[in-house]
Amino acid sequence: MTSLTQLLKHSVVSKKPISESVYTSLLDEQEKLFLPIQNMAKKAQYLHFKNQVYIRGLIEISNYCNNDCDYCGIRCSNKAVQRFRLSDEDILTCCKKGYALGFKTFVLQGGEDLLFDVDRVSKLIRQIKKEFSDCALTLSLGEKPAEVYAEWKKEGADRYLLRHESANSNHYAFLHQSPVDQKRGRTAIYRQNCLYTLKKLGYQTGAGFMVGTPLQTNQHVVEDLLFLQDLQPEMIGIGPYIPHPETPLGKISPIPTPTQRFHKTLYLLSLLRNIHPRALLPSTTALATLIPGGREKGILHGANVVMPNLSPEKTSNKYEIYKNKLNTGSESANGLATLSKALESIGYEINKGIGNYV
Ligand code: 5AD
Repeated sequence: MTSLTQLLKHSVVSKKPISESVYTSLLDEQEKLFLPIQNMAKKAQYLHFKNQVYIRGLIEISNYCNNDCDYCGIRCSNKAVQRFRLSDEDILTCCKKGYALGFKTFVLQGGEDLLFDVDRVSKLIRQIKKEFSDCALTLSLGEKPAEVYAEWKKEGADRYLLRHESANSNHYAFLHQSPVDQKRGRTAIYRQNCLYTLKKLGYQTGAGFMVGTPLQTNQHVVEDLLFLQDLQPEMIGIGPYIPHPETPLGKISPIPTPTQRFHKTLYLLSLLRNIHPRALLPSTTALATLIPGGREKGILHGANVVMPNLSPEKTSNKYEIYKNKLNTGSESANGLATLSKALESIGYEINKGIGNYV
């Protein structure tokens, strides 16, 4: 074992923060460390989760968005998207369907849609928590004032996902350079503060970032890892960047090859499993979309969550944050059986528990 992996092990065991220079070396030596770090990750994963993979039912409630992220297919400037918004009834039907299949977590995810205002979401939270009282409810609805996060927590929301996207202010600004976002004052710090607020309010909080965005350097990723080390989120969502041709960044920018983005994502999943051993780490749809078998590969590198889509068929192909986004089709019992088989083939199984952070 190299001294770097020993250093990493030592920091984790003694719960000491990892220094910037160690993070830099870990990233710079990806090729050499890939297998040892993966093996360490698998050990940590087994120690805390055995061979169990949690499932979360994802419900995409709206693709209307007030933001204009330069990488995202549902940015407000993209006029080519067919917009949709689920009714409250649709959303509850999705939960019912999911509950019957054994889901114990529902994730309401959407663009920053003003029509899903504080009161409407509060009412939804009340209804869902009342009807499915043994389930966890996760929100993923973007940047909101602290009062709104507090209100939703009070109504019963348990978890919140908000990727920080990039902890480096310049890179964040590059990814959010459109006049709309600039005018709204979207900055890395604002985004990070939302996450600190969510943590303080008692949400199980999820941060994360994309791997292989245009101009992303190892130094940027080091800053992402340092931010995560400081925040100590319960969930960390990372996935490869996949260009969307209808976005400014998707049109022109040179990026690492799909294989490079794939491997770097896997390496980072393994690193994160080591650094945050008990964190809930999804093997993302982006990973599965980029390379066939990607979802299973994610699990084999330390991920322990998958998020099948429970959205209604009529809208599930419209939430196109990147091109050709996979529709895992797990909304049917059939889909879940397929997922179960895929996991079995690599020695893992679905755990239908609530899967809180412990
Ligand atoms: N490729 C990969 N991931 C993307 N996201 C948005 N656009 C893309 C893209 N083109 C991610 C962002 C966002 C999450 C919901 O999806 O990180 O937070």
